[in-house]
Amino acid sequence: TAANFVKIVEVSPRDGLQNEKGVIPVAIKADLVNRLGRAGVEIIEAGSFVSPKWVPQMAGTAEVLTQMERLPNVRYPVLVPNQKGLDNLTALLSEHPASPPLTNEIAIFTAATDAMSRANLNTTMDESLVRLAPVTRAARDKGLRVRGYVSVAIACPYTGPVDYVRVRNMAKALIDMGCYEISLGDTVGMGTPTQVSEMLEEVKKSVPVEQLAGHFHDTYGTAVANVLTALDHGVRTIDSSVGGIGGCPYAPGALGNVATEDVLYALQGSRYQVTGTSNGTIDLDKMVDIGWWISELLGRESVSRAGRAIRSR
Ligand code: HMG
Ligand code: MG
Repeated sequence: TAANFVKIVEVSPRDGLQNEKGVIPVAIKADLVNRLGRAGVEIIEAGSFVSPKWVPQMAGTAEVLTQMERLPNVRYPVLVPNQKGLDNLTALLSEHPASPPLTNEIAIFTAATDAMSRANLNTTMDESLVRLAPVTRAARDKGLRVRGYVSVAIACPYTGPVDYVRVRNMAKALIDMGCYEISLGDTVGMGTPTQVSEMLEEVKKSVPVEQLAGHFHDTYGTAVANVLTALDHGVRTIDSSVGGIGGCPYAPGALGNVATEDVLYALQGSRYQVTGTSNGTIDLDKMVDIGWWISELLGRESVSRAGRAIRSR
């Protein structure tokens, strides 16, 4: 049944690359987006319009959007932290009129603790909502869909265990603001399946599960288990990153997102069907190759367990 289709939001061009120290050329970033699209990925977070002083690695996102190929039936959301980011994006969209437009979707983000909100946005949780509300309204007025992230949904790198009631309230506030979906981020990747269960039970009291997504980092090796837990709770959208690359610059010690290859492998033969544009799904072998390609460009090996095992067959 349709209820068991799972959507992947591939966050590697954004979450995967934002924490890298060396400069990654725009051509490589655009190539990553292109390869993901050709492997069947339907939703690719292409970059961010954040302050280059805060996150230098995302500085070329405008060029990535104009240089990458845009496939029909693929969405290319970009992260936007504030009005300035939206202004920069909409200026780009009007300089480069295209059909379909360069992108038709943004993602805004806040956190479930003040400490993380300050670290990531230089403001409190409450003030972040005050600032993001007009950004969301303006984006929607311009025909952009808006996705919302709530970071530190399980644990905060600065203050420890997080009160799930706060996660629920922030998620509800973003829905009320006009976000179509809320991605719940285990930013530090410490969450266990039991904690993910408890957190989702709380958030589901205020937000329909159809509007929730799971965003799990894999620091403690629980990310695939957390994905399966979220699916069992009715979540049908999972954020993941090819090669398991990624990490938040303001969450010290956090490793990458759950590897897309590992999610695809774990769901093989299950009651869940990952949707995509390659014969209706995402091509696992192509993703393994992309995971190795981008990891080696970054000077390391793929950390996707499935990616490593499949490569050494
Ligand atoms: P601020 O310093 O308070 O900003 O930072 P400001 O408004 O005072 O502006 C300072 C300077 O930055 C000004 O320039 C602005 O023009 C400029 P100056 O006058 O000094 O030359 N500026 C910008 N430039 C380009 N684009 C912009 C922009 N905004 C201001 N959008 C701010 C506040 C929100 C800008 C900053 O905190 C920021 O950029 N934060 C982004 C941090 C970030 O990207 N974090 C990683 C993404 S979130 C994440 O990874 C978690 C997630 O994956 C989920 C999970 O895992 O939980 C989503
Ligand atoms: Mg993240």
